[in-house]
Amino acid sequence: MAKQEDQFKKVISHAKEYGYIFQSSEIYDGLSAVYDYAQNGVELKKNIREYWWKAMVQMHENIVGIDASILMHPTTWKASGHVDAFNDPLIDNKDSKKRYRADVLVEDYCAKIETKIEKEVKKAQKRFGDSFDKEQFVATNPRVVGYQEKINTILSRLGKSLENEDLADVKTLIEELEIADPLTGSKNWTDVKQFNLMFGTQLGASADSSMKVYLRPETAQGIFVNFLNVQKTGRMKIPFGIAQTGKAFRNEIVARQFIFRMREFEQMEMQFFVKPGTQRKWYEQWKETRLKWHLSLGMGKDNYRFHDHEKMAHYADAAADIEFKFPFGFKELEGIHSRTDFDLKAHEEHSGKKLQYFDHEENKSYVPYVVETSIGLDRMFLAVFSKALQEEELENNTTRTVLKLPAVLAPTKAAVLPLIKRDGLPEVARKIVEDLKWDFNVSYDEKDAVGRRYRRQDAAGTPFCITVDHDTLEDNTVTIRHRDTMEQKRVKIEDLRTIIKKEVDIRSWLMKM
Ligand code: GAP
Repeated sequence: MAKQEDQFKKVISHAKEYGYIFQSSEIYDGLSAVYDYAQNGVELKKNIREYWWKAMVQMHENIVGIDASILMHPTTWKASGHVDAFNDPLIDNKDSKKRYRADVLVEDYCAKIETKIEKEVKKAQKRFGDSFDKEQFVATNPRVVGYQEKINTILSRLGKSLENEDLADVKTLIEELEIADPLTGSKNWTDVKQFNLMFGTQLGASADSSMKVYLRPETAQGIFVNFLNVQKTGRMKIPFGIAQTGKAFRNEIVARQFIFRMREFEQMEMQFFVKPGTQRKWYEQWKETRLKWHLSLGMGKDNYRFHDHEKMAHYADAAADIEFKFPFGFKELEGIHSRTDFDLKAHEEHSGKKLQYFDHEENKSYVPYVVETSIGLDRMFLAVFSKALQEEELENNTTRTVLKLPAVLAPTKAAVLPLIKRDGLPEVARKIVEDLKWDFNVSYDEKDAVGRRYRRQDAAGTPFCITVDHDTLEDNTVTIRHRDTMEQKRVKIEDLRTIIKKEVDIRSWLMKM
């Protein structure tokens, strides 16, 4: 656990030191769970967004994008259920005065049991070596089976109590499990209460005419209310999808895990409109497609898993998360939900407008069903960044800090370095930058010895360093150094573009899907 915390602290400080993420309004001591993306962070975030947009919109003939506004008519949120049901169960500790999400306290308790399972698996793996069968071990080892049964019992009771709005039982569960305030160890809890997560504000200046509006808590509703506009103007035929990326806002109670849970964050969502009755097929298909998208980035199959929901959101008939192994354990990265016709029907009822599709093959109109894929861009950023940050032991007994970002996502693709600051080398290096910048984000770096510059670029996540030396003046060749292997090759300046493109091009990465 302490090792995990150390690793997470390193992620946070590295993100600041290398210009990825700053605390918002830091000079005023920051604003809780709100962050700013710095010069490198904004590029990484943009590249993740593009990677998603290419895969989800531009590679699908039947998916189009929109960019709906953050403020929407307030009835939207009545119809979607957010005014009445977008609540978190919260509990206060009477001694520490700290506030927690009651369900998260219970889930964290289960995560600790899960860590015990992982330890047992590791021990057995060591003992049995190559002959170790993880699946069989997990299914048969009495201690592991016992742990798993305990987790299942707790989570199923939690799910039922929340579904039935039985908040008294959630408190009883916390007491029975003897869950203590993680900061102080106190078990002196208040009752569990519901808390609405939407941020409200006023639209208009005068007291009489102003209207209460909300900052959208999800981008999805902007898609639902535009469903018919897009379908008609785009002449879309079912099945088809509408995608968008954009900011969402939630007044999160527990917002302590850096950019994992923020109050202002960005979502990348796609609603796929299908014929009623076919939603399960599409749900399974999108689960598979989205996992493939994640795996295409090469961050290790073992770092992902599905978590099928027992407790559904108010709109879903099936739901699963793709969980990622963050520095603090497996947590939700993306949700895939079969949302039925709940949203479109609710908007029909509240607006009095028909939101139906005329199916020429069936010769009838219906309200389509929806399968949604929804991923937090900031959470994806954290997944990529935390996985990429590594300390490597080198052969000469030194270590290097390297940020092994997938090259397609790296903010700067190459740094061009003159070996020394004279003899015409800077001029040649500048010329290379001028040429490459048409195709890639590249930088120029002449300060310090070249070895230190390599380390700096490794830590910043730059996949290539291009060094201009005296031979360059003779034969128009440079060395190109790979961040991950540290291998250096002599290549012609005219070949640089092709060499870099091969490794950073979206096409070659997405082809792995
Ligand atoms: N439209 C469905 C929806 O909003 P959700 O599971 O509440 O579903 C989808 O959110 C994704 O948005 C999550 O999987 C997560 O990646 C991201 N997300 C949700 N709340 C977040 C927060 N407070 N901070 C950062 N990302 C968040």
